[in-house]
Amino acid sequence: MTPSSTMWGGRFSEATDAFVAEFTASVTFDKRLYQHDIQGSCAHATMLAKVGVLTAAERDAIIDGLAAIQADIEAGRFDWRVDLEDVHMNIEARLTDRIGITGKKLHTGRSRNDQVATDIRLYLRDEIDKTRLILQRLQQGLLDLAEREAATIMPGFTHLQTAQPVTFGHHLLAWFEMLVRDDERLADCRKRVNRMPLGSAALAGTTYPIDRAYTAELLGFEAVCENSLDAVSDRDFAIEFCSAAAIAMMHLSRMSEELILWNSQQFKFVDIPDRFCTGSSIMPQKKNPDVPELVRGKTGRVNGHLMCLLTLMKGQPLAYNKDNQEDKEPLFDALDTLQACLRAFADMVPALQPRREEMRSAALRGFATATDLADYLVKKGTAFRDAHEIVGKAVAYGVQTNQDLSVMTLAELQQFSDTIADDVFAVLTLEGSVNARNHIGGTAPNQVLAAVQRARQRIA
Ligand code: ARG
Repeated sequence: MTPSSTMWGGRFSEATDAFVAEFTASVTFDKRLYQHDIQGSCAHATMLAKVGVLTAAERDAIIDGLAAIQADIEAGRFDWRVDLEDVHMNIEARLTDRIGITGKKLHTGRSRNDQVATDIRLYLRDEIDKTRLILQRLQQGLLDLAEREAATIMPGFTHLQTAQPVTFGHHLLAWFEMLVRDDERLADCRKRVNRMPLGSAALAGTTYPIDRAYTAELLGFEAVCENSLDAVSDRDFAIEFCSAAAIAMMHLSRMSEELILWNSQQFKFVDIPDRFCTGSSIMPQKKNPDVPELVRGKTGRVNGHLMCLLTLMKGQPLAYNKDNQEDKEPLFDALDTLQACLRAFADMVPALQPRREEMRSAALRGFATATDLADYLVKKGTAFRDAHEIVGKAVAYGVQTNQDLSVMTLAELQQFSDTIADDVFAVLTLEGSVNARNHIGGTAPNQVLAAVQRARQRIA
């Protein structure tokens, strides 16, 4: 390669070292921006023609040439060249091959610095929209399942110890709420992604009479970036996305952990259908919950990408530095990983098979209605601390005699307090317990159904 075979070789007296050319190239991974690069270039050319820097014929030649290149790329006919460094110069060089000198005018009033920042924002904006659609499909699946399981009783846990009975639908709605916030974070991040760097050129702006507002409108940006130095430099929007992605993955990981527990022989609360599981090559009986395990595992890489981008940015002086070329792989992998994990969950959740009897019998172990008995005593005039002590003794008796509070006889219960009457069983049963938590945000089946209705409206 001679110095002048690159797009910037004019001032160089020797060719780039072969390894350095490879080391500094990004085309192997930034070629995925091709469509948004072309979209940005078409808008830029349209704007240049509007302000008189290009003729209408030049604009049309550029736009037609770029459309043909896009078709070549999509048909697998495009030869990506590492010696052309990145997606931007590969496409521009091919444009000049196709349309001649007019192709060389496309880069007027623009730099790869504002070009790449624009491309990433256009790309990320689309990918955020795709991500949110998958997330919303998962939310729908959770609402459908929660509605079906509104009255299914399971033990609720704190410290992974049986705490109080809850409904399975209520538990699923907790997952739903986590995802609501994840979706809000993505929507909010999108606002700051959706501002246009183009026009900042290398760092200081450009001497051509550009119309940035017009280009922004063509590209559907909400506004232009106000400061050219900031616009070509900061990748905080990508960091913000990775932060939202890491939080969403953390939620998916927690859901995964619960599914793995519930699917185990020890819990048996839920069956994950065979098509979402794999076997063991040595233990014939095994059916492993690989999908949730992998989602839990993949959470680590998204956390890693967030750390990577924060560290990439933290020491950079204004404005653009080549460090920023390293923004793409973490961002792309964070996107791919989050989308794949959301998709796996969106496919799997509607297929989950709850084992209602197992959940119910688990709720009958561990004295899940002990708080209900204490509340019952309080309502009959006992002070809460005394009620707590009385119920503690009843539980100790239950442990000794191996029976739940709800199956003790009235005479047995009255050993601990003579205020206990036979209306106690209405609160000691699992149904009594969950039905009593009858307020917004509570676990009562009718509240779960109402919450599902509200949730459907919220995401409509
Ligand atoms: N491939 C580069 C990147 O991803 C494009 C911008 C390069 N600009 C420059 N002046 N070297 O950041």
